[in-house]
Amino acid sequence: MPRLIDAPGGLRLAAACFACLVLAFALLAQANLWYMVGAGKPPSPRAVLLKYHGDPDTTLLHDVLDARRPIEDPRNMSQFLGGSSMEDPVTIERRKQVLDWVEAGAPESGWEAIAPIFTEIQSCGACHAPGGEQASLPLTTYEEVLPIARYGSPTPLGPLLISAHNHLFGFAVAAVLLSVGLCFTRVRGPFRGLLILAASGGAALDVGSWFLTRQWGEPFHLLVMAGGGLFGVSTGIMALAILRDALAGGVQAESDAAA
Ligand code: HEC
Repeated sequence: MPRLIDAPGGLRLAAACFACLVLAFALLAQANLWYMVGAGKPPSPRAVLLKYHGDPDTTLLHDVLDARRPIEDPRNMSQFLGGSSMEDPVTIERRKQVLDWVEAGAPESGWEAIAPIFTEIQSCGACHAPGGEQASLPLTTYEEVLPIARYGSPTPLGPLLISAHNHLFGFAVAAVLLSVGLCFTRVRGPFRGLLILAASGGAALDVGSWFLTRQWGEPFHLLVMAGGGLFGVSTGIMALAILRDALAGGVQAESDAAA
């Protein structure tokens, strides 16, 4: 079995670069979780539960129209209410109109009056309509808006399916490349097999549990966290093992040349 540590410099360089990119990816993934799910902190189990299963005390519209969201927050939808800034009276008035309607139980009789806010091309309609950037969550009819106006509503299925599809592909590519790379390192024995299983198993557990949490809530959100943790820790160890042998090989070759 050829070993990474004995491989030619170019191959070790490629392996080292790949391992570094994977580690950077892992850091970015953590930053993304802190920013998007945990609102600046490590996401709590409750935040994970609410993200997928919903919150009985609030609605998704309250969440994305929350006036405290900074303008650069990708989930800040107030900026698209039609006003020119978050403080624009149009923004404030339209947010109030939408949330008053939601708090009144989102009656169908009130839909016609607020429908333009959702459907106009100058507001939500620019993206949440067929052909728009966020066409997976269309907001063009009462029936489409109702799920995000309900208390305790889970994350919408369309965007979740797209996110699951993208994540699983990325996880699969990272897991298989790292697993193959690991087989060329000095890591041997049952630990190697465990790392390989943990990477693929963790990815499947993480993404699979998104749907279980969406449907049934507790305790599946803990499996989301366990799966993500398993994937993150195992791929991190594999990347470090690859980096270690790629760099150790370099030192080895230099001392060979010096001798
Ligand atoms: C410029 C394009 C754009 C406009 C305009 C827009 N959105 Fe969005 N919307 C997005 C994108 C992109 C996402 C996905 C954000 C993410 O989760 O990263 C999104 C997500 C959402 C979500 C789902 C959030 C979640 O947690 O799954 C809701 C609800 C939403 N938008 C409502 C609205 C409303 C209401 C309006 C109008 C006031 C609006 N959006 C205007 C692009 C837009």
